[in-house]
Amino acid sequence: MEKAEKTRTLAFFDTKPYDREKFDELSPKYGFNLKYIESKLGPQSAVMAEGCDGVIAFVNDTINAETIERLYNMGIRVIALRSAGYNNVDFKAAYGKIHVLHVPAYSPYAVAEHAMALLLALNRKIHRAYTRTRDHNFSIVGFTGFDMYGKTVGVIGTGRIGRVFVDICRGFGMKVIAYDPYPSPDSGIEFVELDKLFRESDIISLHCPLTKETHHIIDERALSMMKDGVYIINTSRGALIDTEALLEAIKSRKVGAVGLDVYEEEADFFYEDVSGDILEDDKLARLLTMPNVLVTAHQAFLTREALDNIAQTTMENLRAFFAGEPLPNEVCYYCGKISTCDRLHKERCF
Ligand code: NAI
Repeated sequence: MEKAEKTRTLAFFDTKPYDREKFDELSPKYGFNLKYIESKLGPQSAVMAEGCDGVIAFVNDTINAETIERLYNMGIRVIALRSAGYNNVDFKAAYGKIHVLHVPAYSPYAVAEHAMALLLALNRKIHRAYTRTRDHNFSIVGFTGFDMYGKTVGVIGTGRIGRVFVDICRGFGMKVIAYDPYPSPDSGIEFVELDKLFRESDIISLHCPLTKETHHIIDERALSMMKDGVYIINTSRGALIDTEALLEAIKSRKVGAVGLDVYEEEADFFYEDVSGDILEDDKLARLLTMPNVLVTAHQAFLTREALDNIAQTTMENLRAFFAGEPLPNEVCYYCGKISTCDRLHKERCF
């Protein structure tokens, strides 16, 4: 890798201590100077990127038309997302102005293993046993779980993460069924219609992106079709689930347990310590009171391997951008996947 001729300054929004280790190691090698900013990126905070050559952003940054316009007016032409998901970007507003790059894969294992961790913890009540034994309460009443072996798991979305999750489930001797509008014929996975998956699964795990089609894919109708006592795991994006409908289904005992690493309205809370404040989100507050709900704050990606890969790919994406090279990790406004778009200009979206 050749170091860039000119040092470029990049505004690094929503910085957390764990981000810095690898980025600090790599940025001098790439000739990048990183301006770490703790605030999330949004229309108000965009001004903090003044004087920078590009922006590095994350999942809960608000990259809407207003943010994009402000960054564009400052001369910024590239946003490098250090995430796989990009539902927080207004691509229509960005098209023709700012190239948006992402990290398509950094560790599908990290996310799939976290989904299984949530499932195992909920099934065997590990989160409750932990607090009980620390209080010297060694009763196991109420902790009855079920054998995972032989249960049917329904996987929605069988891309990189979904496939790893399928493999893990197979290791447990579970029966796997899946729904994906683009099923891969060579995967050996049994693909079924979505409604059949809802009806037949003991456990449902979400591994699809958030799009117009998947918004509230788990809603009142879907929940009504599911088996009594179904377990639902969501490590993808919060808005895949209609939280109000989910709460009702938990209260009516339709849903047996829920593991959430993501939440519809997470942007105001996740990644922040708000323990000294009153939690203003009633739905999240209700979820957190339920013994059969386990919430983690969007940490499924958080492994050493994933952080290393995120930093490496982000730096490489930016190097390619500034070097005028093709951008294989650009998200195309028209097709979503740069490699298949017939409107490419020199292997760039525009
Ligand atoms: P991927 O792009 O490899 O796979 C997504 C799969 O979903 C594809 O097979 C696609 O055909 C399928 N899909 C698209 N529309 C669908 C629909 N309507 N119904 C069912 N399936 C549909 O993505 P990957 O890497 O597996 O990531 C999946 C999601 O996981 C990301 O979109 C992101 O939201 C989430 N994620 C969460 C992380 C966390 O820390 N909690 C970290 C990384 C990703």
